Amino acid sequence: MIRVLFVCLGNICRSPMAEAVFRNMVANAGLENKIFADSAGTGSWHIGKPPHEGTRNVLKSKGIDTAGMTGRQVKKQDLAHFDYIIAMDASNEENLRRFASENEAGKIRRLLDFLPESDLRDVPDPYYTGNFEEVYDLVEKGCRRLLEYIRERENL
Ligand code: 4NP
Repeated sequence: MIRVLFVCLGNICRSPMAEAVFRNMVANAGLENKIFADSAGTGSWHIGKPPHEGTRNVLKSKGIDTAGMTGRQVKKQDLAHFDYIIAMDASNEENLRRFASENEAGKIRRLLDFLPESDLRDVPDPYYTGNFEEVYDLVEKGCRRLLEYIRERENL
């Protein structure tokens, strides 16, 4: 099983959106037995909480379910356990790198690294911008590319 972890600050807006969108793409590709997706936040404020209403609403409008998803904080063991660790912005990436070994650091990427044609390098935080549609658009494109990248690299 290939394990993919999406990481943001709160684990209620961006990373659960990426987790749900990516899982949906994996299922549509018939790869749910090969690729596992999860998400976590660097912060601890929203442990056990469901995704933000904005994330739930935008995903619902795209036919993507968020039932049962709850926030959790990233832990040191995640860096060993997951094969691809995808940060939403530079600050999340920096926080992950702070406690990663050299081998673990090699697994860390930013989602928009996979979307070089975008002017943005960081997924804007909709907790502050309120723009969940913009985030969905970036997450959808980034996840699509990420899945292509993983399929090629892992021969799937
Ligand atoms: P997220 O957004 O990192 O995309 O989940 C945030 C959610 C909550 C907070 C910050 C960002 N907060 O400060 O509570």
